Amino acid sequence: TQEKAALKERIKLLLNEQNAVLVAHYYTDGDLQDLAEETGGCVADSLEMARFGTEHPAQTLVVAGVRFMGETSKILNNEKRVLMPDLEATCSLDENCPIDLFADFCDRHPEHTVVVYANTSAEVKARSHWVVTSGIALPVIRHLAEKGEKILWGPDRHLGRYVQRLTGAEMLLWPGSCVVHEEFKADALRQLRALHPQAAVLVHPESPQDVVDQADVVGSTTALIQAVCTLPNKEFIVATDAGIFNKMRQLAPDKILLGAPTAGEGASCESCARCPWMEMNTLQKLAQTLETGAGEIHVAADLAARARVPIQRMLDFAK
Ligand code: 13P
Ligand code: SF4
Repeated sequence: TQEKAALKERIKLLLNEQNAVLVAHYYTDGDLQDLAEETGGCVADSLEMARFGTEHPAQTLVVAGVRFMGETSKILNNEKRVLMPDLEATCSLDENCPIDLFADFCDRHPEHTVVVYANTSAEVKARSHWVVTSGIALPVIRHLAEKGEKILWGPDRHLGRYVQRLTGAEMLLWPGSCVVHEEFKADALRQLRALHPQAAVLVHPESPQDVVDQADVVGSTTALIQAVCTLPNKEFIVATDAGIFNKMRQLAPDKILLGAPTAGEGASCESCARCPWMEMNTLQKLAQTLETGAGEIHVAADLAARARVPIQRMLDFAK
């Protein structure tokens, strides 16, 4: 619409004026993703988002995603201004892993190497030895297991169990989960697969084990997008947030994408899986943030310094 086009133009101007770059996650609104790319920013998974912020020269990073993504950018780029369209955009994994309880858990197992998922607060990261994203969890845990290290993992129990099974690592798991991926139903998926026997099944590893067990490809958002582009299949069943369809359809317009079922009878569902916090990112709020400077992320310098160590370890390992 005309109104949307005007809003986009306003945002482009503001980004330019403020030497700001927009970094968006694949789960955000398609307009935001496209705008990020049109303006020289990027749309990415959480590992690439972290890396992009450190490599881009802009003085202001605008992070469209959820809170931990903005915090990670700030921790890695303390001298830059980091803005988010909505500071209330959190994540169920982060919410259900408060630092006091997590620190207790770590204190009770001092002989374990603490590995935390990026979907956590700066405080939880600061208490860890390693931060990982879904894109790098498997090789990091394999590396640690080969050195004979025992691992305390948090907060996503499904991702934890998945890497534990593939690596044989000795792992203690924090009992967290993602409210979006937790909803995928194994029986309904089996029925949908029976209706589409040629479809490849793509699953994000935050999904329950009985859903992951049915996957042809398990991986980060970037890995799942790559799978749509590279596998010969015509049809795909996708078990992750529906925001990912935007990029998949751009890159592979001739493929048929079916959302994995979150309920019932095995019918595919285009928009059942939507992260309520990712949805809080809108063009309207983005424009407002740039105009008012509200939505700035602050992380205390000493906390940022401590949290930076395990994040940097991940980035160095990923090189
Ligand atoms: P990715 O790192 O795979 O993009 O995942 C981030 C996330 O929050 C998934 O729910
Ligand atoms: Fe967190 Fe799940 Fe939303 Fe990702 S999809 S941000 S893991 S609640």
